[in-house]
Amino acid sequence: MLTSSSPKRSGKTLAKRAAAVGAVALAVASLQPLSANAASTRVVGGTPAAQNEFPFMVHLSMGCGGALYKKDVVLTAAHCMDGSGNNTSITVTAGVNDLDSSAAIKVKSKKVKVAPGYNGSGKDWALIKLARPIDKPTLKIATTDRYNRGMFTIAGWGDTKEGAGEGTTKLQKATVPFVADRICKRHYGNRLVSKEELCAGWQSGGIDTCQGDSGGPMFRKDDAGKWLQVGIVSWGDGCARAGVPGVYTEVSTFAKDIASAANAL
Ligand code: ARG
Repeated sequence: MLTSSSPKRSGKTLAKRAAAVGAVALAVASLQPLSANAASTRVVGGTPAAQNEFPFMVHLSMGCGGALYKKDVVLTAAHCMDGSGNNTSITVTAGVNDLDSSAAIKVKSKKVKVAPGYNGSGKDWALIKLARPIDKPTLKIATTDRYNRGMFTIAGWGDTKEGAGEGTTKLQKATVPFVADRICKRHYGNRLVSKEELCAGWQSGGIDTCQGDSGGPMFRKDDAGKWLQVGIVSWGDGCARAGVPGVYTEVSTFAKDIASAANAL
């Protein structure tokens, strides 16, 4: 979710992931913002979200997404962060679909907490404490694995096409089905950390998150009809390729860790 004038997240994300993974060739390729192999349209294959459709969605200035976990805490991906500690360098934009809108709420970060033990493989979550609360609805996170199935909504300001490298100023959304670990491993093999990651995508490709969507939520309705976050956009080989699902942090696995980290922030 970047405007072309925003700081370039893609290079940074790539560099961080590459370093963290120890430059495993395939993993690096998987985050190449400029690799060839075109896919289709928005989020990739999405449509514009309506104003206030996902009021918990936020954009991060380094070119990632996030969701309001508390009014003053954002849940995002570890690979979007530079590590834990005091951090006043991130600008969080909320309250708008269009990043250029004059109605945008912009709040600075105060502190970051990266998942304990994060090393570039799995555990891809982090929390940002905000300088002040944002008066928007928060997004509940899944605390059990019972919602790790069915259809999920993805949303973000990331690239609308693999390799585009510029994101979009207008929030895009799409729907992707859950993909079982066993199926997901047909493509990723042991690069998938089954307990800590879950996959989603269409076998035929065409719809997916992409560079710049990282850190944003993947969510669905719970039994009470309320939005519930089940994933965090993490990585994938290219974007929206046939037979290649997107990989998301399995939020239910970390729900307790996230809750206690948020309380300690
Ligand atoms: N790592 C990317 C980012 O930093 C997200 C890639 C998601 N890729 C996918 N095919 N679902 O923005």
